Amino acid sequence: MAEYIEKEDMTRQKGFVLKIKELNNRFAQEKGRVPLVKTETYGCQQNENDTERIRGILKDAGFEFCDTEEEADIVIYNTCAVRENAEQKVFGRLGILKHMKESRPDMIIGLCGCMVQQKHITEKIRKIHKHVDLVFGTHALYKLPELLYKAMTKNNKRSVVDIEDSAGKIAEDIPILRDDNKKAWVSVMYGCNNFCSYCIVPYVRGRERSRTSGAIIKEIKSLVENGCSEISLLGQNVNSYGKDLDEDIDFAKLIRMVNEIEGVKRIRFMTSHPKDLSDDLIDAIAECENVCKQLHLPVQAGNNRVLEQMNRKYTREDYLKKIDKVKKKIPDISLSTDIIVGFPTETKEEFEDTLDIIRRVEYDNIFSFIYSRREGTPAAKLDFVLSEDEIHENFNRLLEVQNEISKRKNDAYVGRIEKILVDGESKNDKNMLSGRTDSSKIVNFKGSKELAGKYVKVKITQAHTWSLNGEFVEECI
Ligand code: SAH
Ligand code: SF4
Ligand code: F3S
Repeated sequence: MAEYIEKEDMTRQKGFVLKIKELNNRFAQEKGRVPLVKTETYGCQQNENDTERIRGILKDAGFEFCDTEEEADIVIYNTCAVRENAEQKVFGRLGILKHMKESRPDMIIGLCGCMVQQKHITEKIRKIHKHVDLVFGTHALYKLPELLYKAMTKNNKRSVVDIEDSAGKIAEDIPILRDDNKKAWVSVMYGCNNFCSYCIVPYVRGRERSRTSGAIIKEIKSLVENGCSEISLLGQNVNSYGKDLDEDIDFAKLIRMVNEIEGVKRIRFMTSHPKDLSDDLIDAIAECENVCKQLHLPVQAGNNRVLEQMNRKYTREDYLKKIDKVKKKIPDISLSTDIIVGFPTETKEEFEDTLDIIRRVEYDNIFSFIYSRREGTPAAKLDFVLSEDEIHENFNRLLEVQNEISKRKNDAYVGRIEKILVDGESKNDKNMLSGRTDSSKIVNFKGSKELAGKYVKVKITQAHTWSLNGEFVEECI
């Protein structure tokens, strides 16, 4: 059973919120404006969900938000450690902030999230980036009021640092400020126990711990009361949801419970580990009316020796068998996956097996990554067989194979009428609206801006590799 942060500790944090409010009132009296915060998220949906909590806490403490560092009194970067380029981006931004802080020494710079949960990174920040005022890890998020208050009142140059090493407890009832009021992420569990040999996540997020179904359902009901209708259930491996709870529950039962909540129109979830994908879950996806017929099932590689080195605990045969089952039970399922290209020890021939699995499954979409060495993981000790050029060549071949499949899959949508939840203006063309189908495909179409946040029917007229175009038919009732 997961441990929870004690009620007294949460109440203590509320005391710091009041203290920050006082500081902010004083700030407003002196400067004639409210202090502004800029937040930036570098990681996955869980990281994004954490940023929403950070913003919830800050809003309660009297801050408002701005879009750029130039306007900000406080900058908070919520970092990611999964690949080196995510870390490099943050260090690049810190360099720019150093100059900014020289002319505005009162500015507070905060770093949080997965990257700072690693010792070698906090050392580097302490030595090279002394202008960072506040560093807090993934397990210390609930303590933000106390840490920020310390950073706002400290009169020495030392940064306020809180990187708890513990596997982490669950903190319920942290305030949250969401950007979108129609769609929401709801974390059902935290951490990961799988220790895939390339992956840093278990080290920075701690062991798996599930929230009780009661807390999850309560959060979703309150979201629905506020107009939300699309819920994405989040966890690093949602298929092992509930294993640590005293309740008689698993993920299949949980999504059946969410499916019963009135007002929830779409349920999505990620991520599923193939080894834990149960028949019960496949049945639940097939039978629950509001669960989107969409499954993200990361395969990572198609060769059995590589899968074993990755510590994935399934073979390509196991994986393909599960995919077959899914396709039989849910013929209109939309499938996606993650692939790592250039895992150490992988040979040219072994990579052919990855291309083979892509062709066999025919995913709607894949997310492909070039392997990035993560310090402290078992794979970091392995040697490469392929050169960097060969790895890039494989990466491009993978995209080529997948692009052809994605386009073919999208072509099959032409002529269909699809239900879309309209997100708003299209990112690429302000004259178009953009939204997603049940299967999560992006659809762009012309329509009135008032349709944002509504479900509409759209006739698909044209397919591209990554998106669809359509014509507005009518609003859904
Ligand atoms: N828990 C999820 C996702 C974790 S991270 C899962 O198991 O699927 C998201 C993706 O990043 C992974 O699926 C993997 O494809 C990729 N990834 C993780 N570590 C990586 C590394 N060291 N180098 C490159 N890609 C990596
Ligand atoms: Fe990383 Fe594997 Fe856990 Fe996913 S399941 S977060 S890839 S260790
Ligand atoms: Fe997510 Fe990156 Fe952390 S992928 S869990 S933010 S390491």
